[in-house]
Amino acid sequence: FSVPQPQNEPVLNYGPRSVERGALKAALDEARSKVIDIPMYIGDKLVHTGKKLEIRPPHDHKHLLATFHEGDAATVNAAIDAALAAKAAWEEMPWEQRASIFLKAAELLSGPYRAKINAATMLGQSKNAYQAEIDAACEFIDFLRFNVHYMAEIYAQQPPISPKGVWNRVEQRPLEGFVFALTPFNFTAIAGNLPASAAMMGNVVVWKPAYPQIYAANVIMQVFKEAGLPDGVINLIYVDGPVAGEVIFNHHDFAGIHFTGSTKVFQNIWQTIGNNIHKYRTYPRIVGETGGKDFVLAHPSADADVVSTALIRGAFEYQGQKCSAASRAYIPASLWPAVKANVQRDVASIKVGPVEDFGNFVNAVITEASFDKLAKYIDAAKADKSVELVAGGSYDKSQGWFVDPTIIKVDDPYYVTMCEELFGPVLTIYVYEDDKFDELLDIVDKTSIYALTGSIISQDRYAIAKATYALRNSAGNFYINDKPTGAVVGQQPFGGARGSGTNDKAGSALNLQRWVSPRTIKETF
Ligand code: SER
Repeated sequence: FSVPQPQNEPVLNYGPRSVERGALKAALDEARSKVIDIPMYIGDKLVHTGKKLEIRPPHDHKHLLATFHEGDAATVNAAIDAALAAKAAWEEMPWEQRASIFLKAAELLSGPYRAKINAATMLGQSKNAYQAEIDAACEFIDFLRFNVHYMAEIYAQQPPISPKGVWNRVEQRPLEGFVFALTPFNFTAIAGNLPASAAMMGNVVVWKPAYPQIYAANVIMQVFKEAGLPDGVINLIYVDGPVAGEVIFNHHDFAGIHFTGSTKVFQNIWQTIGNNIHKYRTYPRIVGETGGKDFVLAHPSADADVVSTALIRGAFEYQGQKCSAASRAYIPASLWPAVKANVQRDVASIKVGPVEDFGNFVNAVITEASFDKLAKYIDAAKADKSVELVAGGSYDKSQGWFVDPTIIKVDDPYYVTMCEELFGPVLTIYVYEDDKFDELLDIVDKTSIYALTGSIISQDRYAIAKATYALRNSAGNFYINDKPTGAVVGQQPFGGARGSGTNDKAGSALNLQRWVSPRTIKETF
């Protein structure tokens, strides 16, 4: 194709005396030294409604980081109007020109904005330096660059046959109307990618981020603007969900939603869209990535060290607040003593605390509501005599929303925390009899109400083959001998089915294809 060959953005390591650590510390200091006031971005206007809400770091809720302006139904209508006003010029722009804007955004993130976006993600979402780097810098950059590659692929697709005297061709039109991007708190890359991927394909977008992510969303918008994104193509608003939904899902020009968030919210949205279907010009595209209850399944042939590393990293990086995080595990009885000793040792060595200390591996969970929910599940497990507390089990909200990495062992594979999504640093383990592996595969599949990620750890090829087949619908991203997190754009397209979403694989041609509506043209000479 004619676009630059994409490469994965190298991950910087932030070692103690590295240049990048110095730059990041300076960006953190700068961000902490002032309280910024964040506007909404609608068309060519920065909108201040005067209804100010506060942003505080989840790990330091005494510190005021920023304020932002909340809008109402009129704001949503203004954003839709601005999007529709920008539509004609944007979709007429040659796709290479649109692509260039997003490639430029990737360059800005890779260089001048890297420390700033990482610092914003660290402070706003309590993500440590390494986790911020792989998200806000690398994954976001990768989404932009690889999507441009897939974009070229889509525009190049043509019917293979045009008989003599005929020219068959397909034109990839943007959707008729506007796209609504509803983005999650946990990944800056996803927050940026959901509006960007729809916009790249010639669509105009109304973007509503989850409130805890607004601090970084503001930086993303600055990057898009500096890269040359025309006013009105992406409009960033902060409006209460139901208020926004009431306007968007009743609008004749609503043409699609690009969503990442909870299963419950997505199901409600789907239902609302269904109820309102007669109001729209066209069937809207509904693309969503939702919850996960992701598993690590160890076979008796597995290496105990590989298993425990997968558990610790899979369950506790970014406090388990990844939709891909390992939150249930199945360990054979013969391996359990070694795995248990390893994870107890590792959890004891994990430092929990604010992101400003780069030695802290686990930081705060995102909100008080998350904290309370996790505390409730932990207390219930501690009070249940059938449950063994293997590690952790404490929490403390005096300074921030800190929940210790916690591992519990249950004797029922259908136990509530083996099935429900907790979204935090809590791992539930079920220990099975070594000779019950085949029966277990069936249980793992049955309890996969969500089906996002999962991994099998084994040195036995036959067991790997059996698990790969038996669990073919239990995970959209399946890992063999690895943790179930950390999909890399351009390498492992990401997404799951069942309760985990529409499986339109973020960072893939399949996803971008959802943002166009092809027209087939047959010309006869
Ligand atoms: N893409 C991330 C991962 O694979 C989760 O959203 O961990």
